[in-house]
Amino acid sequence: MILAGQLLLANASNDTCRVSPGFVRVEDGFIAEVVEGELPQKPDAGGPNALISPGFIDAHLHLPQFDMIGAHGMPLLKWLGEVTFPSEMKWADTEYARGMTRRVAKQLLAHGTTGICAYATAHHESSRAAIEILAEAGLRGVVGQVLMDREAPAELCFEPRRLIDEAAALSSQFPARGRLAAAITPRFAISCTEELLRGAGEVAQEHEAAIQTHLAETVNECEFVSKLFDGQSYVDVYRDMGLMNERSIFGHGIHLDADDRRTLNEQNAIVAHCPTANSFLRSGTMNRHSLVTDQVKIAIGSDIGAGYERSMVRVGRAMIEAASLLGDQYPSAADAWHLITAGNADVLGWSDSGRIREGAPADLIVIEPTIDWLNSPADPLSMLMFAWDDRWISSVLTSV
Ligand code: GUN
Ligand code: ZN
Repeated sequence: MILAGQLLLANASNDTCRVSPGFVRVEDGFIAEVVEGELPQKPDAGGPNALISPGFIDAHLHLPQFDMIGAHGMPLLKWLGEVTFPSEMKWADTEYARGMTRRVAKQLLAHGTTGICAYATAHHESSRAAIEILAEAGLRGVVGQVLMDREAPAELCFEPRRLIDEAAALSSQFPARGRLAAAITPRFAISCTEELLRGAGEVAQEHEAAIQTHLAETVNECEFVSKLFDGQSYVDVYRDMGLMNERSIFGHGIHLDADDRRTLNEQNAIVAHCPTANSFLRSGTMNRHSLVTDQVKIAIGSDIGAGYERSMVRVGRAMIEAASLLGDQYPSAADAWHLITAGNADVLGWSDSGRIREGAPADLIVIEPTIDWLNSPADPLSMLMFAWDDRWISSVLTSV
């Protein structure tokens, strides 16, 4: 199969991207050939005005929250209690979880997302079913059973020993190096006792699994964590519980000081920036520039359903807008395209993803814009990002 058009490629320094005409030949689910230059006469998909992009990667999202996107007007802890936890309780029914995960997989792929870091719910069998279904649908990434043993409805809280054993079982069944692996997913320090956090850290270490949790999203949350953990800083809680390393993906990271950023940098941990969710819950505006300056690794995620955009292009655009609210040091559209593809892949350590490269799995999107984006004096990637229309996506391929 030949896909032709403008290829979205990482630049030489690997920190942003560029477009270049050419074609990609796909064979048996892998990229067999990448050729820059003249377009073939009769490709199977694409054409001179098309963009051929790596599949998008969403570094933070919640599967059970796709049906509750849009509950505006509440701060985080109220939103969790009134809307989110009741939605997640529906996953006690594994058949319901299966049906919903099938719908979510369709929505993700329809929006060009082929890589995910996803939270399921506290329910073990439903989390297992979700991983199986997402793997069958061709998605790449990590998915975790959410671990909670306090500060949530009783229906979503389980004994720490049981949760730790269940997380270990999923990590054995879906090991870290698989295309879709289990992630150790304590929801956040508020909803986990010390025993649960420590146990989660041990399982993650034993299985070399990715870790996902939330960090410093709102001021109230940070104050609550300080109260629950004897005045310790939020970052130190996770570090001391063995939950901070190069495989840790911390959602949000808005309310951090210089010491926190230093620790995150020393531990090589990742902050998953979720700009749409931050504006939706009015949690604050992440100072991306301070994290960049302190060399904290930054990924980007939709955080559905606090985030209301399924499209990673729109999330990338929101990142630019959030950063530009704070001053002149905002990323370009090319930087945002890079971050939702190769940039996310790199910080997540997914060397097989996010790039149009020979030998890589063919997780690819064919985008056919209805605007004349290549013949404008403006930056073409900026035109595509800000004029974005999801209907431009004409096909999405995954390697399985
Ligand atoms: N903090 C703890 N749980 C959640 C969640 O589900 N969404 C968001 N945005 N923040 C959280
Ligand atoms: Zn989240």
